[in-house]
This record gives sequence, C-alpha cells and structure tokens, in this order.
Amino acid sequence: MKLSVVGTGYVGLVAGACFAEYGNTVYCVDIDQKKIENLKKGILPIYEPGLEELVLRNFERGRLLFTTSLEEAVKDSHIIFIAVGTPDGGDGRPNLTGVLKVAEDVGRLAPGYRILVDKSTVPVGTARRVHAAAASQTQHPIDVVSNPEFLREGRAIEDFMKPERVVIGSDSERAASLMKELYMPFVQDSADIIQTTIESAELTKYACNAFLALKISFVNEIANLCDKVGANYLDVKKGMGTDSRIGKKFLNAGIGYGGSCFPKDVRALGMIARDAGIVLPLVEQVERTNDDQKEVLVHKVKEYFKGKGKDLKDVKLAVWGLAFKAGTDDMREAPSITIINELLKEGVKIHASDPVAFETSRPIFGDSIAYEEMYKVLEGADALLVLTEWPVYSEPDFDRMKSLLKEPVIFDGRNLYRDTQMKANGFKQFGIGVTHS
Ligand code: UDX
Repeated sequence: MKLSVVGTGYVGLVAGACFAEYGNTVYCVDIDQKKIENLKKGILPIYEPGLEELVLRNFERGRLLFTTSLEEAVKDSHIIFIAVGTPDGGDGRPNLTGVLKVAEDVGRLAPGYRILVDKSTVPVGTARRVHAAAASQTQHPIDVVSNPEFLREGRAIEDFMKPERVVIGSDSERAASLMKELYMPFVQDSADIIQTTIESAELTKYACNAFLALKISFVNEIANLCDKVGANYLDVKKGMGTDSRIGKKFLNAGIGYGGSCFPKDVRALGMIARDAGIVLPLVEQVERTNDDQKEVLVHKVKEYFKGKGKDLKDVKLAVWGLAFKAGTDDMREAPSITIINELLKEGVKIHASDPVAFETSRPIFGDSIAYEEMYKVLEGADALLVLTEWPVYSEPDFDRMKSLLKEPVIFDGRNLYRDTQMKANGFKQFGIGVTHS
C-alpha cells in the first residue's frame, strides 16, 4: 500500500519505518525542512534502538520517502496518518492546532477518496473534528479512523512490529477493512485487531496510560509506607505480582513516572472528563501523588546528611541516569529534573552521568552540573544517586565504586540493587521502600 505519515516525531517516524519494513511505500512528511534533509542523510532526530538501521534500510530500498510536500504525499497515498505533536495547551488540554491544520490541508489537496488516521493521542471527539476540517475543504469522500499508538520509548520498534493489539476506531467499513489489511502482517491473529467506534478507540488510549500511571503511583505509595513500617517493598511486590489479576509488570516503585505520555495524558484525561461534566478524582490524584514522589529521594538525602551533621553546601553527589527511563535520551518530564534542581537549590554539587542523555539534558541543566563518565562522577563524591534504571548500572564494579566514593552510600531511586549485593560489598542503600545498611 501507499501511505503517508505526517509528523516525523517519535510515533510518526517509527510507524513510517515499520510500515515500510512490511513492503508499503511510506511518505514521511514534516514541515521542518532541516529535519527532512537530515533524515535523507540518515540523521535521526531521536535516539531509539534499532530505528536508525530500519530507516536507512527502507530509505535505500526506496520505500521510505522523506518530504516537506504534503501535496506530493496526499496525491500518491490513500491513507494519511496524522502523527503531529499535541503539546499541552497550557491548561492540561492538548493543543490540536497542528492536527486540525493537517486535516484541512489534506482535505484541500485530496484528489479523491482519502482516509485520515489519528495516530496522535487526542481527546475524545477529535476524529469527528478532523473529519469536519478535512471535509470542509473537499467534495471527495473522507473517512477518519482513530488508531491510537501504544509503543514505549526504548522498545518502540519491537512494540510496533509485534503489538499486543491494534485498536481501530471507525464508523466506515471501507476504511476499517483497509486498516485491517495494513495491520495484518503485524499481529499474530486477526482477533488482535480490535475494531471499535471512533470514541471508544480515542478513550482507550487515555484509559490505558492513566491506568498504568495509576498503578505506578499506587505502588509508590505502598513503597513509601514500607519505609515507615519496616517492610521491604521488593517482597511486597513479589507477593502482589504473583496474583495474576494484578500482574508482575509496572509494579516498580521509584522516583515517579515521567516521559512525553503519562504526565500529559493523565492531565488530559482529567480535563476531558471535566469537559464532559464529570470529575475523575482518582485520575486527578495520580499526578499529585507522582509530583510528591519526585521529592522522596531528595528528602532521604537531606535526612541522611542532616543526621551526619553535614551541610548540604559541602556535599558532592554523583548521579547515575538523567533520562526519564532506560533505553532513551528523552528528558521530557524526567524526575531527574526535579530531583537535581531541588538538590542544586540546597547547594549540593552534582556530577552526573548517563549513557545517552547528555545532549538532551544540557539545555535543561546547563553548566549547573558536571557531565562525566559513570565512574568518573564517583571521584570524591559523598554518595551516589541512581535515577535511571540503565542495565549498565545494575551490575557495576562495586570495588571500583568503593575506592572512588568518599563513603559507600547509594540513594537508589530505582531499587536496582539486591540485599546480597549491598551486604557483600559493604554498601548502604536507601531505596524506595527498601533500605539496606
Ligand atoms: C508509555 C506507555 O507505556 C506506552 O504504551 C504509551 O504509548 C506511551 O507512554 P513510555 O512513556 O515510553 O510509554 O514509557 P514507559 O515504559 O511506559 O514508562 C513510563 C514511566 O513510568 C517512566 O518514567 C518509567 O520509569 C516509569 N515506570 C514504569 C515506573 O516508575 N515503574 C514501573 O513499574 C514502570
């Protein structure tokens, strides 16, 4: 099939490359000339494992085309995915200007029947507005489909190529059956393609993200309680996760969720509900709990040095991990931002390391912190803070760490280390719901 994906951000670029991998011809359209020129040279705007190879391979095969011309793309493809950004409009509601502009332009440029697919996460009712915007510009029939994307950063290719399910919301059988045909090579079984109404598909995406965010906020609360009552969260987690109704995934307590989706989508769901005349107190509390969680490790650091009678102005801390999670250089709403800024405010000196997120964190922290290699940051530091769960941090050289740190103390914001590791190596660990000393 011939397709267009408008917007070469995370979702757009991954979707375009993955559709091309299965033999489709895909136009990746962006108004950013520089981005398109770079993509043609194989320079990607984001870091995502496996994406570069996939893009290069399909570009060379001539199946992945990069262009700033929406006209060229719309003329040559029947299905047009809208994957442009929907930034927070400032009041928790996503700004849909970009999405609606693309819809209008597609309507204006369409030489015949076209299917417009909402891939961006958009509030319930947006697909109808997209339809109206496109239809107002053309006499040709236009169908809209809501096809939310569930991929995770760091595993985007794997998630897109082998999705657990594909949700297709449409009231047009013609559009839905073309979409099913497009997605068949990606799923194990046709039953993995869930066809719904437009509104149900739109809401599904928010319901999923808010539920996962809620799960994280819930376990963070339980872990905080573990700290108070002397329980070990890792044991509690095991006991919870083995109940198949709860499931083992997304039970990691930590420093709060971040990223481009959970914070924005949880906020948006609360607003969507309010706009519909109903308040969702549980959903609205999720964000407040998450904001508080970013303070937990800072509090532990303050208490520890206060107990030692040491002024924070005389403290140097090493930080492992800046990105909002492992496998990405994405710093959007990373808990590390709040934590580091809070500590800087107290006068702490920070030397930070991250396998890939230096470039993305420099605009945030500037020269207020030092950026160094993971062992270098430990030199003369009073303690180590682990803020991202990069695998390279899980099995470090403890002897080397001990020889570099002033004291063998780890504030483990991701509960990376086991009791046995800490004991064998003589480390003090302050985790989230886990303390070993
Ligand atoms: C998320 C959804 O998983 C994905 O389906 C959706 O399409 C986009 O939003 P992503 O933001 O890439 O994906 O990251 P994810 O792996 O879900 O993690 C989100 C945040 O939650 C991270 O900050 C992560 O550290 C945190 N998290 C995750 C926890 O604190 N504990 C967990 O157990 C899992």
